[in-house]
Amino acid sequence: MIIAGAGIIGLSCAWKLSLCKIPVTVFDAREAGGEASWAGAGMLAPGGEMEEASPLTDMALRSLAMYPEFVEALSEASGMAIDYQRCGAVEVALNQREAEELERRAMRQAALGIRSEIIDYNGSESARFYLDDAVVNPRNVMAALREACLRQGVKLREHDAIVEIFPDGSGVRALSGPHHDDGVLIAAGAWSSGLASKFPLPAAMPVRGHLIAYKAEAGMLGTILRHENTYLLQRGTGSLVAGASTELAGFDRTIDEGIVQQIHSRASQLLPGLAALEPSERWLGFRPGIEGGVPAIGRVEGTRIWTAFGHYRNGILLAPDTSRLIAESVIQAQ
Ligand code: GLY
Repeated sequence: MIIAGAGIIGLSCAWKLSLCKIPVTVFDAREAGGEASWAGAGMLAPGGEMEEASPLTDMALRSLAMYPEFVEALSEASGMAIDYQRCGAVEVALNQREAEELERRAMRQAALGIRSEIIDYNGSESARFYLDDAVVNPRNVMAALREACLRQGVKLREHDAIVEIFPDGSGVRALSGPHHDDGVLIAAGAWSSGLASKFPLPAAMPVRGHLIAYKAEAGMLGTILRHENTYLLQRGTGSLVAGASTELAGFDRTIDEGIVQQIHSRASQLLPGLAALEPSERWLGFRPGIEGGVPAIGRVEGTRIWTAFGHYRNGILLAPDTSRLIAESVIQAQ
């Protein structure tokens, strides 16, 4: 199997397929995990993202439940530590209108199995604690996935962009030339449409997001802290991450200082101790958006082409279940 894209989706599928004894070669235009999987905050948080019954919500909840085993197995297979915290999330409402909306949403979520409970939270109108939301450091996951894949015999071709996929899935043409195999998986995130445009697939598009981080004392923030589009979380190292913005700006990699300052000011409103700090890092990434909002996961009918792209805000969360689904489909087609 050839996989286009060495982000968290491409490499988690590569690892899973190779564990199922399927030979895999992964191509990436840059280095493994250099794009959205590097930029992501790593929130594993259906409580912040899901509120309606849908197959995507089911998938998010399944994937969250798979995470402890995913992290443990990956850490063992790679010999690398992964910062994974089952810390929960505090969601605050700052006025009466937001408090009512938070309650309505929590009721809808409870019906889906997303647990939350009312808590007192200083300075808020009301707040809820989402018990099951968690955080992982995606850069740890990517380093571990890369190592686990290599140990498992996956061939990794970094800086070798695929330029064309043969329409029947019998291989690809990359910068290095043609490569033949018995199937191709398109897992190139926001770049997937460039490869998939010949097939009847929804369009992928980049949805840019800025994030910032502060050097802070470890343990300053025990949970994810959220308010509307602002979230804060803390790595085991102490690095405190704040996000995010949402822009349709194509693949423009220019950091916008105005957006950085807006995130800093929203983060400081949520955690006043941050107002005195300067962000020590700022970066952006391209969320893999998709027309229709539902990730394209599965086989393209009548071909040996599979897709796993369009995970938008939830690629880190959805990786374990996506790799399970792809492996099942590929094995069934053997
Ligand atoms: N998953 C959070 C974000 O995309 O900003």
